[in-house]
Amino acid sequence: MCGIVGYAGIGDALKIVIEALKRLEYRGYDSAGIAIRSDRGLKIVKSVGEIGNLENRVRGMSIKGATGIAHTRWATHGIPSEVNAHPHPDCRKKIALVHNGIIENYRTLRKELLSRGHEFRSETDTEVVVHLVEERYYPLRKKGIEDALFVAVREVIPLLEGSYALVVVAEDEDYLVGVREKSPLVIGIGSGENFLASDVSPLLKYTSEVVYLDDGECARLDRKSFRIVDKEGNTVQPGIHQVDWSPKDAEKGGYEHFMLKEINEQAGSLHDTFVGMTGENFTLSPMLKTLVPYLKSIEIIGCGTSYNAGMVGKYFIESLTRIPVGLCYASEYRYSSPAEHTPLIIAISQSGETADTLAAMREARRRGSVTIAITNVVGSTITREADFTLYTRAGPEIGVAATKTFTAQIMVLDMLGLRLFEAKKGDPAQLGRLEGSLRGVPRLVQKVLENQERIKEVSRFLSKAHTIFFIGRNINYPTAVEGALKLKEISYIHAEAYPAGELKHGPLALLSPETPVVAVAASDHVREKLYSNVGEVCAREAPVVIVAEEGDETAWNYTDDVLTFPACSPELSPIPASVVLQLLAYYAAKERGCAIDKPRNLAKSVTVE
Ligand code: F6R
Repeated sequence: MCGIVGYAGIGDALKIVIEALKRLEYRGYDSAGIAIRSDRGLKIVKSVGEIGNLENRVRGMSIKGATGIAHTRWATHGIPSEVNAHPHPDCRKKIALVHNGIIENYRTLRKELLSRGHEFRSETDTEVVVHLVEERYYPLRKKGIEDALFVAVREVIPLLEGSYALVVVAEDEDYLVGVREKSPLVIGIGSGENFLASDVSPLLKYTSEVVYLDDGECARLDRKSFRIVDKEGNTVQPGIHQVDWSPKDAEKGGYEHFMLKEINEQAGSLHDTFVGMTGENFTLSPMLKTLVPYLKSIEIIGCGTSYNAGMVGKYFIESLTRIPVGLCYASEYRYSSPAEHTPLIIAISQSGETADTLAAMREARRRGSVTIAITNVVGSTITREADFTLYTRAGPEIGVAATKTFTAQIMVLDMLGLRLFEAKKGDPAQLGRLEGSLRGVPRLVQKVLENQERIKEVSRFLSKAHTIFFIGRNINYPTAVEGALKLKEISYIHAEAYPAGELKHGPLALLSPETPVVAVAASDHVREKLYSNVGEVCAREAPVVIVAEEGDETAWNYTDDVLTFPACSPELSPIPASVVLQLLAYYAAKERGCAIDKPRNLAKSVTVE
């Protein structure tokens, strides 16, 4: 989604906000802009397309100033164009504002503002806010009210409905104002300089100390200090978080794409996540320990890839603990009317900011469920609203397609499954065996990563297809679903996943020599069944790729295109098998010349419903 950066310091604001903006590119955008308090007044420059276009526009302009804001826009209201790009100025062009989110009541507000003589330049919902601010700001300033901009913005907040992170700058004020309501906004505390941003990645180069604003909070920030107030105007004591990601973690490090780098980091991210869930680093809270023996059901919620990780978790936790585990898309959960109360909800979101997941989790809490969040981002909204948080320790994920956070989410779910099993007095020998196997998963993944050549070769032929089916059974059905999602989002090849047994109930009608099928096989109780289904595919002359364990000779009876992962406990096979599928998607997309890190129409963090 859109990205926000704000800077108040002593440095060259233009250079700093553009540099920081580049670190938000991964969120997806179609236009960009800056507003700098320069020695010649408030200077606003915008452009459509890449940040490079914006850089070309400002090159040669003398924009000197130490306070400024910047934005990458992902069009929601109005086409991608220069006028619709942020920052939006007020009628006198002395105030400028950037916004993430949606102002739901903008039509009414716009009509009222037009009737009061305001001049609108864009089609956006955002522009109403800057005009509302101007109506209050100039009279306050005329009256000599201190911090007139800060006061004006706070007066506007109650008029807005929807979700917003806003950052405002004015020609005659040497500070920025930031507000948050259901859309993330983070303060970065520097020395002699302070920042605002929509997430921490653009701040890593400058500081590791951050403060996440809560809904309804408004911040006033200059180069020396910042102050936060809540909706009632009470000063809020900031909770300062230390971010332990290094700026290098958010760089490509010699790889052609962030996605490839992140796929290749998985042995490390899985190890770190495993360690984070063991020994002194993790104990089930006394409250959960008491709850678990009587737990009638669990429900997992999430979106996209996080949902798919939840599906793996469902199979794993259910078969191990015998606790029934439901699974629901967060966007569906929030509007559902369940017949029975689910005592424990696990909400999964790598970003911790996905609007649908947050809303679903709030609904779950309203229904009286205990909530556990699984996320990759320390201090993100989900961590502040869930009863308990479990962290994936994957480091920053910049590529839009989730990869290392997906496998880390599975690791957390598996480890949580073990702890639930323990709390239910499960067999210690089985527990020890599984924990030992999970410890070995990073090694399995490393082996997959060392053998990418064959995957690359197979991807070449898949990259020519128009439609590809992915099939799997039991715990590897979610592996197939995630494989299809990865392929479609970055290569734009239509891909669909089915439980292998479902093929004959409809999809077989679509199979032909032009529709390849990728099957995922593990050495489990459904292996033979899966191969029968693969036989059905071969009978329709559809080309088959099998992702199978090393040493699985049966796979070769059906195809020469066998891609392997090291032998492992079948319940853990989704992790190494998924790494094979991630690489398959990556190389197919590369073969097709796609914009792998920034697939069209997609954003890394979806903060609107
Ligand atoms: C796909 C992908 C998305 C996200 C989904 C949820 O590669 O990244 O499907 O998984 O938008 O995002 P989070 O996990 O941040 O809630």
